[in-house]
Amino acid sequence: MSEPGSRAVATIEYLRGIRPSILPSLLLCDFANLRREVDLLEESGVDVLHLDVMDGHFVPNLTYGMPIVAALRKITSLKLDVHLMISDPAQYADQFIDAGADSITFHIEAGSGDPGPILQSIRDQGVASGLAINPATSMERLLPYVSLCDLVLVMSVPAGFGGQPFEPVALERLRQLRDRFGPDLLLEIDGGINVQTVGPATAHGADLLVAGSAVFREADYCQAMTRLRREFQRS
Ligand code: DX5
Ligand code: ZN
Repeated sequence: MSEPGSRAVATIEYLRGIRPSILPSLLLCDFANLRREVDLLEESGVDVLHLDVMDGHFVPNLTYGMPIVAALRKITSLKLDVHLMISDPAQYADQFIDAGADSITFHIEAGSGDPGPILQSIRDQGVASGLAINPATSMERLLPYVSLCDLVLVMSVPAGFGGQPFEPVALERLRQLRDRFGPDLLLEIDGGINVQTVGPATAHGADLLVAGSAVFREADYCQAMTRLRREFQRS
């Protein structure tokens, strides 16, 4: 496994520098006013946008693909964190890189083979690479590959939909990963992040906290972000 390319290194360093950070998930945003939504998030001091790509096969929901990532790339310099909930990440990862992704995370449950070559190919193209794990999947499946990852995305809901309740098993997993792999590994958590769960998640080692409903179901994104950031804790 070679080291990540220099652009990927810059992204990883950037992400390490902002932690902890709330990453709004655009799943629930107003797509009729995408530019306005991004402007509001930029004004709220957001660093990274989290983009949920679902294929209606790996998860029973369909969202958007490369064109939305490319459109966002044109209108913002915020980092674009792409979360692939698709059955065949190997087939599509390059297209998301071309569309402008800064980091790409796919699921350990997706595909049948070794995720190592996909992680490496993403890195080689200058993009940070990560693996995601659903709450119901054993950590034993993920652990052999963590040293090949720039980030690990611990799902605190089953991938597929916004607005689901937080599953506390994610907290133990964050702590396990932090203890085992040290401070450099970027740990992301996604699902059910709100004012109640930000504190425990950061206390257990979360660096990047994805929030959908807790931002987009609020009238004022800036206030929502401020309320969430107020709950950051370090153990
Ligand atoms: C779920 C997605 C999440 C989702 C989070 O499969 O990966 O990013 O948008 O939404 P909330 O914060 O509402 O749980
Ligand atoms: Zn997500």
